[in-house]
Amino acid sequence: MELNRRTVIAGAAAAGVAATALGGTARAATGRGPVKELFGTLADGTKVHRWSLQNGGTRLKVLSYGGIVQSLEIPDKHGRYANVSAGFAALEDYVASSPYFGALIGRYGNRIGKGRFTLDGTAYQLSVNDGENSLHGGAKGFDKRVWDVEPFTHGSDVGLHLYYTSVDGEMGYPGTLRTKVTYTLNRHGDWRIDYTATTDRATVVNLTNHTYWNLAGEGSGSIEDHELTIAASRFTPTDAGLIPTGELAGVAGTPFDFRRAKPVGRDIRAGHEQQVLAKGFDHNWVLDKGVTATPVHVATLRDPRSGRTLRIATDQPGLQFYSGNFLDGTLTGTSGRTYRQGDALCLETQHFPDSPNQPSFPSTVLRPGQTYRTSTVHTFGR
Ligand code: BGC
Repeated sequence: MELNRRTVIAGAAAAGVAATALGGTARAATGRGPVKELFGTLADGTKVHRWSLQNGGTRLKVLSYGGIVQSLEIPDKHGRYANVSAGFAALEDYVASSPYFGALIGRYGNRIGKGRFTLDGTAYQLSVNDGENSLHGGAKGFDKRVWDVEPFTHGSDVGLHLYYTSVDGEMGYPGTLRTKVTYTLNRHGDWRIDYTATTDRATVVNLTNHTYWNLAGEGSGSIEDHELTIAASRFTPTDAGLIPTGELAGVAGTPFDFRRAKPVGRDIRAGHEQQVLAKGFDHNWVLDKGVTATPVHVATLRDPRSGRTLRIATDQPGLQFYSGNFLDGTLTGTSGRTYRQGDALCLETQHFPDSPNQPSFPSTVLRPGQTYRTSTVHTFGR
């Protein structure tokens, strides 16, 4: 599909859209249809492309490999742009050693205990890639697949449709899963993700995106002074392998209380047993709004120095807040600086980890004839 497409979509398709007030500052509309370039070649000869698009002050670069957000630039309060998503400059680094930087995650975001579950009486063994557990879809999840990419402009929106079909049995999952993910930039610069999937056999699915945020700019240091708000009164505690115990624990009086804006670093060293297990925050917050028909605002991240803010709205019931605990100074990021622990954080909208083994959690089962649908919207301000 991708190969048959024109590389440049006619003109600046969304140009001419009126300037938009955002964060008190008028931003000129900058809608520019997706532009394709070669990013690299995989060992098997498959070409990987990078698509660049911009709209409403947001500039996005996406790879056909993993649907990876390779760069996401937004302005600060002075209008200065920075790439606020951690990543790499070269394809080889994504292939060799990426901790899911910017990637689409499937078939199952986060962990499934021992990589096992039973559905309709049949036991399935998944690819195990995180100790004894299966993480983010197994050894070769959706983050390591080449997606078909179809650019579009629709009114003042610009975006990409990404397609991947996961065959029956891939990574141990039942059913052929046909997946479509749409990345849209609207004239306000919001980045929206719409996911759909269908299957021909009963299966489980939990798709998300694994962008690592640093609103001061990737490679600029710690995110511990970023202020975070999460509209959640409970979270799902885990065992030592980061598998939920099944309990929904209250956040009140614990370091996990982000119901009011709080610097990420304020309580990160509080010594709560759950933080010790996870080396920081790496948990699923149970969003107070629950599953909703349309995206509802659930989290705000703000960098006080640059003034950049990110607001997340989702229809999902959970949010994995991961404070970059396993970044250990061994990876060199896009702009040539090393990433150390806490140099970026993830806010992954999702169903709860290990749901296939937790009957009390919202179901992640998808059956033939049903369509899995979920949407998450990222709104930027300054
Ligand atoms: C998980 C972390 C994991 C990271 C991948 C997060 O979603 O919760 O435990 O290390 O992804 O690097």
